[in-house]
Amino acid sequence: MKHKILIGDCRKALKTISPDSIHLIVTSPPYNVGIGYGNWNDSISFNDYLEFSREWLSECHRILTDDGRICVNIPTSTYKSNSVDLFRFHEVMREVGFKDRELIIWAKRRISDGRLCGKKIYGTWNPMNPLLRNPIEAILVMNKNRKRLSSFGKSDLTTKEFLRWNYTLWEIDTEADRSHPAPFPIELPRRLIKLFSFVGQNVLDVFLGSGTTMKACVELNRNSIGIELNPEYVKMAKKRIGYACVSVENISSKIDSLESCWDGEYIINGGMRYKLPSKMRIP
Ligand SMILES: C[S@@+](CC[C@H](N)C(=O)[O-])C[C@H]1O[C@@H](n2cnc3c(N)ncnc32)[C@H](O)[C@@H]1O
Repeated sequence: MKHKILIGDCRKALKTISPDSIHLIVTSPPYNVGIGYGNWNDSISFNDYLEFSREWLSECHRILTDDGRICVNIPTSTYKSNSVDLFRFHEVMREVGFKDRELIIWAKRRISDGRLCGKKIYGTWNPMNPLLRNPIEAILVMNKNRKRLSSFGKSDLTTKEFLRWNYTLWEIDTEADRSHPAPFPIELPRRLIKLFSFVGQNVLDVFLGSGTTMKACVELNRNSIGIELNPEYVKMAKKRIGYACVSVENISSKIDSLESCWDGEYIINGGMRYKLPSKMRIP
C-alpha cells in the first residue's frame, strides 16, 4: 500500500490530486475556536471560515470518484460566534454538490470535569447562567453522487461490526494522547474506513494532524494521502506511522512568496511556512 503526506495548505495541495481518484475522505477540519495550531489562525471571521470550507470542500468533490464518500467530523454546538456551525457547514457541503447519506453521533465517554466549565455564582450552582457541557460531536457522511459503490471489492467488515456500527450513536472515548492539540481517536476513522471503503481503495485526510487516519489506513490496508500545514505535526505523524512506509512531498519546491500574517511574517517555500526572525522582518 502507498501512503503519502502533502505538506502545505490544503486548498493548494488538493489541486495537485487528480480528479476522480479518491474513494473515501475522512477528516476533521479546524473548528475555528482559537486552538494554537502553530501556523494556522484558528479564529478567522465566520464568513471567511465558510469561504475556506467552501474552497476545500469543492476540491474534495472534484477529486472523489463518482461513487465516493466523505465523512467530516464537526462539533454539534457552536463555541463562539465565529466558530464552525454544523447546520451552515452542512449547507455548504450541499452547495458544493454533496448528497446526504448519514449523520453519525459520536458520544464521548471521557469528557472534562464539569467544575472546570462554569463558575459557581453566589456560592452554589443555580439557574443564573448554567453552562451545560456537550459530550457529542457529529460525523456528516455524504456521497459525491451515487450511494452504491459501482464495483465489488474485498471487504474486511465483519457481521458483528456492521450490526454494532449501523446504529449511528457511537460511544467512543476521546483520545488520551494530547501531543497534538485536537486529535480524534483512531476508532473513529477505523469504523468509517471499514464501513465505507473496500480493502486497497484510496483514502484521504485533508487535515492529517498527528496522522490518525493514515495510521488506520496502514492497519486496514488502504492507500492513503494526508495533507497537513504544520511540519511539526507531519513529524509526529511520520513517527507514529513509521518513516519507512510514508513518502512526503512539499507541494512546490521554490520560494513562492513572503506573507504577512496575524502572528508574524513568513517565507512560503515548497508549500511550507517558515517564520522569519523579527530582525529579518520587513518594516
Ligand atoms: C482538528 S485537527 C485534525 C487532527 C487529526 N484528525 C488527528 O487525529 O490528529 C486539524 C489539523 O488541520 C491542520 N490545518 C489547519 N489549517 C490547515 C490548512 N489550511 N491546510 C492544511 N492543514 C491545516 C492543523 O494544523 C491541524 O493539525
